[in-house]
Amino acid sequence: MQYPFPNFRLDDQVAVVTGGGGGIGRAVAHTFAEAGAHVLVLDTNSSAAESVARELGARGQHVVVDVTNEDDVERVMSEIARQHGRINVLFNNAGINRRSTSLDLSVDDWNAVIAVNMTGMFLCARAAARHLKASGGGTIVNTASILGLSGGWYPNIAYQATKGAVVNMTRSWAVEWAPYHIRVNAVAPSIVRTAMTNGLTSQPELVAKFEALVPLARLGEPCDMTGPVLFLASAASAFVTGHILPVDGGMMAQ
Ligand SMILES: NC(=O)c1ccc[n+]([C@@H]2O[C@H](COP(=O)([O-])OP(=O)(O)OC[C@H]3O[C@@H](n4cnc5c(N)ncnc54)[C@H](O)[C@@H]3O)[C@@H](O)[C@H]2O)c1
Repeated sequence: MQYPFPNFRLDDQVAVVTGGGGGIGRAVAHTFAEAGAHVLVLDTNSSAAESVARELGARGQHVVVDVTNEDDVERVMSEIARQHGRINVLFNNAGINRRSTSLDLSVDDWNAVIAVNMTGMFLCARAAARHLKASGGGTIVNTASILGLSGGWYPNIAYQATKGAVVNMTRSWAVEWAPYHIRVNAVAPSIVRTAMTNGLTSQPELVAKFEALVPLARLGEPCDMTGPVLFLASAASAFVTGHILPVDGGMMAQ
């Protein structure tokens, strides 16, 4: 074993980022590219995905795919592996929210959230894992949430159910795929300023209320996610698997 242990680089690795056109996905896509990876930006939003891939230049490429569509997910992952020879990293990050009290939540909204946040995560992890296994191993980083680790601060049952599922899918896959040298971890962000949270962050009184709950006294920014995700995606975390890393300004420490 060499000291200091290498390293946070992803040179020549092929990294897939789902939800790569969104706030957290875009920030992580940039960080992966700066770490030396070729980054596949996957999203249903074609203009957002295309614009992120364009920002990455030669290191970026976009693919329009709906993570809830089994055939499309399998086809896209296989096509990426064929084109690039391998997949080394999956940042399994696409997600949606339908905030509502449980008494008012429609089954349509419940199903929509389950489809993307839970089934979509499963489909992408399963499809990518086949190729990671074929490459002799790799890393998967799932985006959970502190709402998957707690009862939360406002009613949001479908989202919380799916993020709780992401937490335990992460642990299960870490054990199941360890023999293939696939490490599976998750980040659990608190509130991060992205399109998903515009409805909250555009209300100063709500922002003040949430900031008061955070020991570091601020909301997260997409760039706050990049170091933790790169750590879990790279060899820097070589002996870490099945871990849920809160990226939350200390909220879960309380
Ligand atoms: N923003 C937060 O406060 C926060 C906190 C905890 C966890 N998260 C999680 O972080 C992840 C990224 O969210 P974000 O905050 O960047 O939001 P965002 O809305 O900016 O990005 C989400 C992206 O996912 C894409 N997407 C949605 N459904 C898809 C589908 N079916 N197939 C492919 N792509 C799809 C969207 O088009 C969008 O580009 C999500 O899993 C979210 O649940 C966000």
